[in-house]
This record gives sequence, structure tokens and C-alpha cells, in this order.
Amino acid sequence: MASWIAPQLRRPTSGFTGWVVKRMLQSKNGFIELNAVRLCRLEKHHRVLEVGFGLGIGIKKAAEIIEAGSGKVHGIDFSPEMMRAASTRVEAEVIDGKVELVLGDAACLPYRDNTMDRIFHCNCYYFWPDVNKVCLKLHRVLKDGGIMVTCLSLDRMQDIDSRGYLQCAISWDPNIYIDALKKTGFVNVEMKDEYCDKTKQAFQAIYAYKPCINES
Ligand SMILES: C[S@@+](CC[C@H](N)C(=O)[O-])C[C@H]1O[C@@H](n2cnc3c(N)ncnc32)[C@H](O)[C@@H]1O
Repeated sequence: MASWIAPQLRRPTSGFTGWVVKRMLQSKNGFIELNAVRLCRLEKHHRVLEVGFGLGIGIKKAAEIIEAGSGKVHGIDFSPEMMRAASTRVEAEVIDGKVELVLGDAACLPYRDNTMDRIFHCNCYYFWPDVNKVCLKLHRVLKDGGIMVTCLSLDRMQDIDSRGYLQCAISWDPNIYIDALKKTGFVNVEMKDEYCDKTKQAFQAIYAYKPCINES
């Protein structure tokens, strides 16, 4: 079972195991996606990027805040199956021009330098083979003064690791990720315990800032 689930968590595909993993993402991760958007404190003119958007739950929520024309929601994920699922979820917002989803790798971001006001990602960084490389790319596309929010539940990570579901992850140790963020130029990096009032569930958020030019 674990050897079927593990690769699907890293890059979900279609078929029965993919279907099981999609149900897990919806039921276990949905609240984290919604809260990541909340913690980004989006404004309607913001340009925001989600990396590893999965089912598109966070993309949809962000699109409720962003105003077409002045702001935009971007998403990148390297799973064709997630691209299909998320595109269906936000079909109307894509047609409106409010959302743009890309099938691609976080290590090769197709966005110009200094374009995103906010970046968020959930349950994703531990699948990046070279976390430093991805952090460098994220730093490049984030605007000076921009904020990146990374969400996960450490309790849940421990649980799924003990079941063998993280065989395809590099390391979910948040300290390795936090070190990579600092090394690649992010400042005021800190992990905080957060809480979802609606579902009464705790989770963690890692905040990282790109300094304004005159602060660096
Ligand atoms: C465990 S799922 C989490 C999905 C969603 N963020 C959530 O919390 O439900 C990991 C997601 O990250 C994507 N992903 C993993 N590594 C990636 C990479 N290097 N580039 C782009 N997407 C990646 C996978 O395709 C998958 O959709």
C-alpha cells in the first residue's frame, strides 16, 4: 500500500491509487490550503503564485480575493492529473483571465523576476530534489518586500512518514527548508504554530520575506 501511495503523493496520476490520493488531499489538506491563502493577507491587486497547487483548492480561494485586471493568481504543478483537476475547479476564473495555471517544475519557474507579491505552497517542499535551487527561483520571482508562506502539519507529516507514505520525499525536516530559505536570501524566516478556527485543527506556517532593496 505505502509503495503505491508514496509516488502518488509526490506526483499524483490518474487511476485507482491516484483517486485515493486525491481524496486524501481533499479531506486532509483542504483546510491547510484555505488557511495558507488567509495567511498570505492577499489584496485584490496582488499577483500571487501557488507552487504544487494539487486539486486547486488554494487557487480557487485566492481567486475569490483577487480582482481580474489588476491582480492575478498563478499556479504551477508538474502533475498532468493535478493540472486537469485544478483546471476543472477554476475553469471560469481561467476564462475570466483571473487565474493562469502552468504544467511545469518548481525548479524552472516561467515567470519574470520580481513579479509576485505573494507566493504560497502547502505540503510540497520536501518533494523538491534540490531545495536550494527552487528557493533561489522563488526568491527571483518574488517582488522586493514580498512574502512567501509555506504551510504543512508537522503532526500529519509524522503520521504519514510512519506509514511509509513519504518514501519519495527528500526530507520534510522544516529546518533544512528554513536553512535553504535563509541561504537563498530570504529574511525574517520563522515557523509559527497556526490554528484553523473552522476545523479546529493546528498546523504550521513558515514565513519568509524578500527584503526591499534598501533593507538588504
Ligand atoms: C502532496 S501534494 C500537495 C498538493 C496540495 N498543495 C495540497 O496540499 O493538497 C504535492 C503536490 O506538489 C506537486 N509537486 C511536487 N513536486 C513538484 C515540483 N518539483 N514542481 C511542481 N509541482 C510539484 C505535485 O504534483 C502535487 O500536486
